[in-house]
Amino acid sequence: MSDVLKNDRFLRALRREPTDTTPIWVMRQAGRYLPEYRATRARAGSFMALAQNPELACEVTLQPLERFDLDAAILFSDILTIPDAMGLGLSFAHGEGPQFAHPVRNQADIDKLGVPDMEDELRYVMDAVRLIRQELHGRVPLIGFSGSPWTLACYMVEGQGSRDFATLKAMCWNAPKLAHQLLDTLAQSVTAYLIAQAAAGAQALMVFDTWGGLLGPAAFHEFSLRYMTQVVAALKADPHAGELPVILFSKGAGQHLASMADTGCAGLGVDWTIDLADARKAVAGRVALQGNLDPAVLRSNPDTIRREARAVLDSYGDHPGHVFNLGHGITPEVDPEHVKVLVDEVHAYGRTLRGN
Ligand code: CP3
Repeated sequence: MSDVLKNDRFLRALRREPTDTTPIWVMRQAGRYLPEYRATRARAGSFMALAQNPELACEVTLQPLERFDLDAAILFSDILTIPDAMGLGLSFAHGEGPQFAHPVRNQADIDKLGVPDMEDELRYVMDAVRLIRQELHGRVPLIGFSGSPWTLACYMVEGQGSRDFATLKAMCWNAPKLAHQLLDTLAQSVTAYLIAQAAAGAQALMVFDTWGGLLGPAAFHEFSLRYMTQVVAALKADPHAGELPVILFSKGAGQHLASMADTGCAGLGVDWTIDLADARKAVAGRVALQGNLDPAVLRSNPDTIRREARAVLDSYGDHPGHVFNLGHGITPEVDPEHVKVLVDEVHAYGRTLRGN
């Protein structure tokens, strides 16, 4: 693991150090919009078979880097590996979202949950991290990730995707102690998972709190932010993970950026519903920002994509600490050529912005 990083723009930006241009990676960069991804997934048979095969997971992680000049790789896996390892029985029905055979709804269900063994039930994830790190040969840094305790709980209690995850919300009001017991077990699991990924070779860690924005302000603090704070504090105290930058991404939580920066994370993911200039003011230079092009822009045309990319770069301005990304994951119908247009424009205009 002594390979020297050839491109450290992404890590420098997270440390808010100057870079020659703005680094970019794309949430879900290895995904169904790439024909080569669809081919590998077909060979694997299913999404879970692909995610559980370290060689194939490594292959799809590297696919977008072959096509585009991206500044980071992200482990190919899913946030729902933790609940699957807890015994909930994850499956993805074809063309549909995730499903759990055994959702958790009551005290008995939640009492049964334990922290999974990271080198047993989740060994396939750590093997993938080790292999990807080796195959990257220091080209770009590797991002490891987890879901947030709140977002994992949303799926575990609902048993599937949902627009409002009202089953978990009802538990928060009807049986808050039970909800906190679940969230605490998840916070311990997420911490162990991210520490294991760091030990296996991940160079940055991201927490996806996709559904934090469904909560009102007080509930967001009590049920989502509190547990992300616990995770970040535990990571910082760990010898493997302690040095790694942590990015927190709560979708739809633009109003909470200042409190999220208080966790001690290095960066915050930002969706497209807030202007990056306002987001910068909110965090007052304490953290880097990652975002925030509306993914739907990639369904337009090259000129519009270039213009909208420049608008995002201008909204952040010529300050250190910006990692360009979409405000949420890329969608399957996007033309891969449009991603190339985006990546190249971000690098070209990022240089212009710095007078390079
Ligand atoms: O970003 C990357 O390229 C790394 C891989 C990655 C996946 N999922 C692969 C995936 C990451 C970081 C995730 C995170 C994830 N998974 C989140 C948080 C980020 C977000 O998008 O909000 C969530 C909520 C999930 C749960 C999940 N996994 C859902 C709801 C679905 C189905 C929806 C869909 O897009 O089909 C998945 C499946 C999934 N995870 C796919 C991929 C590429 C598509 C499955 C397929 O190939 O059929």
